[in-house]
Amino acid sequence: MARAKISIIGAGNVGATAAHWAAAKELGDVVLVDIVEGVPQGKALDLAQAGPVEDFDALITGTNDYDATAGSDIVIITAGLPRKPGMSRDDLVATNFKIVKEVTEQVAKRSPGAVLIIVSNPLDAMAQTALKVSGFPKNRVVGMAGILDSARYRTFLGWELGVSVEDIQAMVLGGHGDTMVPVVSATTVSGIPVTSLISREKLDAIIQRTRDGGAEIVKFLKTGSAYYAPSAAAVQMAEAILRDKRRVLPCAAYCEGEYGVRGLYLGVPVILGRSGVEKILEIPLTSDERLALNRSAAAVEELVKLLPL
Ligand code: NAI
Ligand code: 2OP
Repeated sequence: MARAKISIIGAGNVGATAAHWAAAKELGDVVLVDIVEGVPQGKALDLAQAGPVEDFDALITGTNDYDATAGSDIVIITAGLPRKPGMSRDDLVATNFKIVKEVTEQVAKRSPGAVLIIVSNPLDAMAQTALKVSGFPKNRVVGMAGILDSARYRTFLGWELGVSVEDIQAMVLGGHGDTMVPVVSATTVSGIPVTSLISREKLDAIIQRTRDGGAEIVKFLKTGSAYYAPSAAAVQMAEAILRDKRRVLPCAAYCEGEYGVRGLYLGVPVILGRSGVEKILEIPLTSDERLALNRSAAAVEELVKLLPL
């Protein structure tokens, strides 16, 4: 069987690290594209030379030419500017809109059957951009944010409870921004409701730290934003799709009535399989959670209104 082909656009921190995870998992051959000459070529060569040490077989190509992406199964779009201290993800909208539009045009015509995984910020608005520009069906354009936000929440809970992060199941839904919604009613530790294991005060502090999780890292790094966990999350999505795992994961998906949201990308639980978003799952939410999700959708909508789509 031919190997899968994964193209990653943007060979910066998130893109190059995603290439690393994808190669290490032998998900397929990887094409790394960037606008800057030399960077994707150098990083691809370096990563390829890790193959004999780490025992992976994957062709890794670095290029500035989109022709090398032709016939991709998956395209992960990470091109764009990251945040600097004091900036919100939303401050990136105008610049990253132009970049994501141009990148989507380039990849869509060369890989008309691909699933696009969008990472560039502001995430929900950039996924909306990629959907409109590509003309792909909604199931084949999906945004990465919820897995990352849930991973942050799971990490903080694991530390607080002194248990393995593997045993913490959680969903952070809504837009990838200050209004994100950690769903406490769907947070369990090996099936045990988290509220029976932690005080409300501690849980609220963890929820706030999750919401500020990206900014906490930007503040430390000063010149960029998080990339290990974001790239791992994007590659988990690629794996679910390529291996048709039908994983249930929080992803930014195009809602058409689900959760009362219409015509908008929003973080919701989805089944992720070979066709991309196989289904959006509507889970029961408390009235406060539903209200918070509606507020988050309204914030995403305000941002989407700024896009010249
Ligand atoms: P970075 O600055 O390290 O890398 C971005 C790369 O994009 C650079 O190498 C740059 O040359 C390239 N690029 C810019 N314009 C391009 C174009 N027109 N065509 C091709 N490549 C182009 O940034 P980093 O840290 O990799 O972040 C990338 C994006 O992902 C940012 O917008 C960031 O905010 C977003 N992000 C989103 C997350 C999420 O949860 N959805 C998490 C982490 C980052
Ligand atoms: C994050 O949450 C910047 O969106 C990026 O780390």
